Amino acid sequence: MAENNREQWKTQLGFILAAMGSAIGLGNIWRFPYTVYANGGFAFLVPYLVALFVVGIPLLIVEFGLGHHMKASAPLAFKRVDKRFGWVGWWAVTFVMFGIVIYYAVVISWCVDYFFLSFTKGWGNDPVNYFNNDFLKLVPPPAGGQQFTFGPVVWKIFFALILVWGANWIITVKGIQKGIEKAVKIFMPLLLGVITLLVIWSVTFKGAGQGLSYYLNPFEADWSKLSDPDLWIGSMGQIFFTLSLGFGIMIAYASYLPQNVNVVKAAAITALGNSFFSIFAAIAVFSTIGFMAYSNNVSVRELKDTTVLQLKPESSEQAILRTKLDLSRYEMLRRGSSARSIKKVFRENNLSFARYQGAFNKIPLKLSGPGLIFKTYPLTLNKIPGGALFAILFFAALVIAGLSSSISIIEAFNSALSDQFNLSRTYSTSILCGLGFLGGIPFVTGSGLYLLDVVDHFLLQYGLVMVGILESIIVGWYFTSRKLRMHIDEAADMQISSRGEFIMRIILTVLLVMTWLVLAIGPNVNTIGSQVAMLAIIAALVLMWLSEHWFDYDIKLLIPALLMFILNGALVKEINTAYSGYNVSFVMVGVMWIFVTLLVAFIFNFLSRKKS
Ligand code: PHE
Repeated sequence: MAENNREQWKTQLGFILAAMGSAIGLGNIWRFPYTVYANGGFAFLVPYLVALFVVGIPLLIVEFGLGHHMKASAPLAFKRVDKRFGWVGWWAVTFVMFGIVIYYAVVISWCVDYFFLSFTKGWGNDPVNYFNNDFLKLVPPPAGGQQFTFGPVVWKIFFALILVWGANWIITVKGIQKGIEKAVKIFMPLLLGVITLLVIWSVTFKGAGQGLSYYLNPFEADWSKLSDPDLWIGSMGQIFFTLSLGFGIMIAYASYLPQNVNVVKAAAITALGNSFFSIFAAIAVFSTIGFMAYSNNVSVRELKDTTVLQLKPESSEQAILRTKLDLSRYEMLRRGSSARSIKKVFRENNLSFARYQGAFNKIPLKLSGPGLIFKTYPLTLNKIPGGALFAILFFAALVIAGLSSSISIIEAFNSALSDQFNLSRTYSTSILCGLGFLGGIPFVTGSGLYLLDVVDHFLLQYGLVMVGILESIIVGWYFTSRKLRMHIDEAADMQISSRGEFIMRIILTVLLVMTWLVLAIGPNVNTIGSQVAMLAIIAALVLMWLSEHWFDYDIKLLIPALLMFILNGALVKEINTAYSGYNVSFVMVGVMWIFVTLLVAFIFNFLSRKKS
């Protein structure tokens, strides 16, 4: 391969913006806040930061370093470490191109549709019903012995999906400098601007303080969660997903860097910038959650178990209630509120709630999964003055963040194809975007949500972690982390790796000692979970200071061990519970996806066996 012809970033800033663009995505604006909410608020930030420093930043350094050293995309880079490992690189890129981006693009399409809906609040007064029935046209879930049906294609989403893949194609086909770099130089500042507006606006919502204090006040956090292994597994998964690790993306992006660059600094800026963005953007979400709690007359903590009652638009009782209540009370019933506050209205007006019960829809508030942004959010924004504009900005932010991530996925595969098969960019981009679009079609049917749920679960819980284990073992033991450190120092023209290690040790010591103390004074100190966790922390601290090169020890031992622990935890849970109550053959779709991508990876590896 003519390596001097390899495309290059115009500026290092362009590279960092692109890497951040990949990292910052739906995961930051949507997944991060609800993971925080579900895991005890502020307490979640501790395992999140530990995962960031133990696994996130070191693996990002590995991917940047490897891509930069080998000047190659993942398959070729791994092949150059050892001829036997080309398939690992192919698996990483296949996995993300023929797995994650297929449904990721569908979720971006939902956001595109919701962006347009926002102008007129097109979800109406009953956004939950709208999302399930009018928008997704959901068929009954594939539970028990039920036959699986795809259901109809939803044209609204289908057309949005064409737009998304069109945008992906236009950006990626133009190449690194004229396409991706240009796009992210517009996208990223725009995204930061929009999110800043939303944050400033949202803190003025009534009840915002309550939401923010659940999020940021250590005294309100549920620290007992720290002894729950699920919390640690969840935070590790979040870091992996949010930093786009284990997919060969960061390897490909770093392969377009010039000779002399400070890889450690780039990784630190990317990773810290990404987490800063998550933490910042979550302020907007938590302020809104605070408003939700306020307007439903419940506490933030109770919100997830709250059922909202909403007057059915077509009910005959509607007219009667309209005459018996003043306008603002009546509006409250129509827009929906918690059962508690609705009953209060009835009591205050000397009406019997029992008599009118049938006139209400019961809506359990969803604060996780797609429910948060497509149901609960519209429900809430209906009650906020200027809510339409807020929604427009919010969904625009999601679309921009999503696109800057999806282009990175396509580029990871693109660069693998051009490294190994000498295909032209136009040709390979067109094929990939076409396939990505076709692959998305099953997900835009009435059963799309269930498919998405299953595939997402298996790819994220297993595939991702397996690739991560392979990656750290191959780089740690075969390429050797020592060689990687030497390369990094040489490219940066100074001894940064040892200084970086020192800083890391200090940060981790502080974090781990804090965690230990929280566990020790916490209410669960006598449970096995806490005891094991406390012992593990002491062991990790001792080993960290004893090992001469913390980086080597981390890559070679700690990361693979932690990831195997996660894999094991996830497996045990899987075996004990049928996933989401779906029937077995449906769950197999998710399992199959992992094996099929592996098979595809082997085929690509075979076809490209001659190139190295
Ligand atoms: N990092 C992106 C996010 O947080 C998602 C992503 C996953 C991007 C995998 C690329 C690859 O949303």
